[in-house]
Amino acid sequence: MCGIVGYVGKRNALPVVMDGLRALEYRGYDSVGVALWDGAKIKFEKTIGRVASLEEKIARKPWEGKSAIAHTRWATHGKPSDRNAHPHFDCTKSIFLVHNGIVENFSELREALLREGHNFNSDTDTEILAHLIERPFLAAQKKILLEDAVLEGLRHVNGTFGLAVMSKNDPEKIVVARRGSPIILGIGIGEYIVASDASAVVNITKNVVYLHDNEAAALMPSGVQIFNLPDGKASLSKKILKKQIDTIDWDIAQAQKGGFKHFMQKEIFEGPSALENVLRGRLLDLPSALSGGGGGGIKLGGIAQIKEKLLSAKRLLILACGTSYYAGLIGKYYFEEFAKIPTACEYASEFRYANPAIDSETAVILISQSGETADTLEAMREAKRKSALTLGIVNVVGSTIARESDAGVYNHAGPEIGVASTKAFISQLGALAMLALFLGKEKNTVSPALSEKIVKELKGLPNKMKRVLGKDEEIRKLAEKYLKHKNFLYLGRKYQYPVALEGALKLKEISYRHAEGYASGEMKHGPIALIDENFPTVALAVKDPIYEKTISNIQEIKARNGKVLAVATDGDEKIGKLADDVIFIPQTLEILNPILSVIPLQLFAYHTADLLGLDVDKPRNLAKSVTVE
Ligand code: AGP
Ligand code: GLU
Repeated sequence: MCGIVGYVGKRNALPVVMDGLRALEYRGYDSVGVALWDGAKIKFEKTIGRVASLEEKIARKPWEGKSAIAHTRWATHGKPSDRNAHPHFDCTKSIFLVHNGIVENFSELREALLREGHNFNSDTDTEILAHLIERPFLAAQKKILLEDAVLEGLRHVNGTFGLAVMSKNDPEKIVVARRGSPIILGIGIGEYIVASDASAVVNITKNVVYLHDNEAAALMPSGVQIFNLPDGKASLSKKILKKQIDTIDWDIAQAQKGGFKHFMQKEIFEGPSALENVLRGRLLDLPSALSGGGGGGIKLGGIAQIKEKLLSAKRLLILACGTSYYAGLIGKYYFEEFAKIPTACEYASEFRYANPAIDSETAVILISQSGETADTLEAMREAKRKSALTLGIVNVVGSTIARESDAGVYNHAGPEIGVASTKAFISQLGALAMLALFLGKEKNTVSPALSEKIVKELKGLPNKMKRVLGKDEEIRKLAEKYLKHKNFLYLGRKYQYPVALEGALKLKEISYRHAEGYASGEMKHGPIALIDENFPTVALAVKDPIYEKTISNIQEIKARNGKVLAVATDGDEKIGKLADDVIFIPQTLEILNPILSVIPLQLFAYHTADLLGLDVDKPRNLAKSVTVE
């Protein structure tokens, strides 16, 4: 995915869109560019590299203008380069465009346009769009509006777009359109901003409109017109839409580092508040009389209207990607343990291409921090086509998955900027635990006493999380000690197995060290062959009912000269004699251990990458939310 930003209004548009690019850079960052209408012509600059590279190029240009569009790219078609950076333009440089998404039929469109005499300046799929929009202007006998040219041009496009267009034929206007890639409009007073997400808008205004798929808008100094791309294909008969104005529920400070070195570091330390936020207002201290045994009531307003359908579901299916998928694996244990409902957890990217045997008796839970991950979004749409009930556990308010699912639970974790997901994972586990308890109470498959015990422990968990975060310096020293190693095995069993997968992903994605998460019980079926003094193992060895099994695994590793860094429970006197290094975490309930045991792994990965001098928040090849397939 990438970042798009555009502005029309009373300020000089250049600094506004450059600030927007900096806010969006985490979304994708191999090249950047900007186009600005200066009242007479459209000026533009674009370059490979980060926003800072663009700032250098325009630093000596005293550009002023009232409308501009800008883009930070995550390449899909055409390698990162100056010429493939956005904005792209048409043959006469009258139309400039930035785009997030993929034009799936771009080869045939390019051939057709070449036959019509269009010439191209890049290898991207995006550039096609500028020429498709140019065509109606070339054919028009009279002046046409930019939005009408855009609607006409988009009629020919298969694929996804979140795009912003400006043209000297219809100056001081920006037209945006979305299908499959997010676009949010900021509605200011006499000024309008458009972006891929709220982090680029909140500094100008908190009043926003979330464009839905197959909707478009024209932003002008006089105001904003929003219209549809009828029946999923653009046509000239556009219908003006009335849209609700929402309010962003966080401020710009939350989208800044606040004194931390990296967003990821800040977001790891926001873990306790992320858990508090997802629980807030949802844990009822019902009096004993009401709940028959103390507190432990769960209130999830977001699913009230589909409660009966959810309770009648014969099975649950969790679909997600990456870290969210690992949270889903833990959720599977929760639902089967507390709601006694058969639950599966699958990669969304696998589910959507299989022919899944689901129906109206299946409830599908989509977990997505961004709410825009293409694989998860399309998996949800496939589930809806098969009449399944869909619930979203989503962090970004107003995101596509949040809007298109039948119901859901917002994480309220605040913006997560670091590409490596950390506080969102914690928040997702809190939401899943509550949802499982809610179902368990409604189905009488979990005793009020147990529910109360879990709710009580959940409430106390943020303080225990802070105790683990207090070991930050100790964990940095361990990262330094293990820095020479290039390969790691992460082992966990039952609730700790997904934690092992998540810990390995964290290390991989920001330090570029190879790490493999594995079920402890599976180690002897192959991976143990890898073990020697140069192949360390991170072992999740918390005090739980299967602790002794994990101890056996550690012994097997030590017997082969493998080094072991263990995460263990306070007071465990055995582990220190076995493992080479131990990070202790407070005791908690087995089901809540992952919320504590993941923190040392997040910090270990963070410090490893930081010690290697890597860009922790924007690791190579990655983007914060993968909105392309
Ligand atoms: C996790 O650190 C990665 N950034 C990635 O695996 C991420 O979890 C995945 O792309 C899913 O994103 P989502 O939660 O926004 O859908
Ligand atoms: N597919 C377009 C390109 O490769 C847009 C990629 C993006 O979303 O940044 O330039």
